[in-house]
Amino acid sequence: MKALLLSGGTGSRLRPLTYTCPKQLIPVANKPVLYRALEAIGAGGIADVAVVVGEAAPAVMASVGDGSRWGLRVTYLRQDAPRGLAHAVAIAEEFLAADPFVLFLGDTLLKDGIGAAVTRFQATRPDALVVVGRAEDPGRFGVVEVKGGRVHRLEEKPRTPRSDLVLVGVYVFGPRVFDAVRAIRPSARGELEITDAIQQMADWGCTVDAHQVAGWWKDIGTPEDLLDANRLLLEDVETELRGLAEESWIAGPVRLGAGTVVRRSTVRGPAVIGEGCHIEDAHVGPFTSVGDRCTLRRVQIENSIVLEGCVLDRVAFPVVSSVLGRETVIGCGGTPSRGLGLVVGDRSRICPV
Ligand code: TTP
Repeated sequence: MKALLLSGGTGSRLRPLTYTCPKQLIPVANKPVLYRALEAIGAGGIADVAVVVGEAAPAVMASVGDGSRWGLRVTYLRQDAPRGLAHAVAIAEEFLAADPFVLFLGDTLLKDGIGAAVTRFQATRPDALVVVGRAEDPGRFGVVEVKGGRVHRLEEKPRTPRSDLVLVGVYVFGPRVFDAVRAIRPSARGELEITDAIQQMADWGCTVDAHQVAGWWKDIGTPEDLLDANRLLLEDVETELRGLAEESWIAGPVRLGAGTVVRRSTVRGPAVIGEGCHIEDAHVGPFTSVGDRCTLRRVQIENSIVLEGCVLDRVAFPVVSSVLGRETVIGCGGTPSRGLGLVVGDRSRICPV
């Protein structure tokens, strides 16, 4: 079995962050989501991976390399424009040949990985197996209707969902999917939809099974999704203190990276703080991830993602539910005010006087 990992797309809902970093490389709990997908693919027993890349190809290729860091063999396939998930499958036909394959959306996180879905596909050999989860708001997703254990209908973001089972972003396909992606036409939004290809397979009488995930699943489409994913991942953090804490209170599960110094501060877990950071007279956490080489001085921050190289110095307002791009500088001073939630791109400066 091979894997097709999608790392193209536009990432428009995550602008301005995605102007300078493809969505799949945004670190959540200090690790890019794409790395977690590669780990899940390796843990699922798959070694050959094609990564579909778009405009951000150079960044993805530089970051992932040949995949050997994960024990994988990675090949890159260039998608000329984000023409849809089924289009990404179509361009991979030669690489995938007649082998079954896992289609994994590169902005997707699954707590329990893909092992169970792969095992089930190999045991039962349907034409397609879609991984599904239950959602409280199914209308935001691809909704799946199952009858007698088989998928018989799929609808992309329906106004009135007929089921609460939704596609989580992982699929396993046999070779019939290539006939289906050739048979479908672009949707109203101009994309070749994978839901239309799977519907086509069901209409042809192919076996399309649904596999329900046990643990949580999450895609990182929006800033709110990033913060949700950060919280879910931090739930599993275990204390590991490689840095130095002086006159400070470290409470709950906290990971401090090597070379990081925390002085006269409170770090309330769950939280992860990268390497080479300086934290002074600050309150950090809970549910906060701080990347490498950040300085946090006289600031209060919680439920946030701070990417590497940021400087937050004498910030008069509590920073809450924020995503700060790399090397952002916030230095306000002034009078304390209410908490602020910010989503700012790389190298922003927020310094009112
Ligand atoms: P989406 O989240 O549906 O699309 P997007 O990444 O373009 O984001 P936005 O809607 O905010 O503009 O994509 C799901 C995943 O599939 C994501 O990892 C990007 C990838 N993708 C491709 O590789 N090629 C494509 O043609 C499309 C549409 C998505």
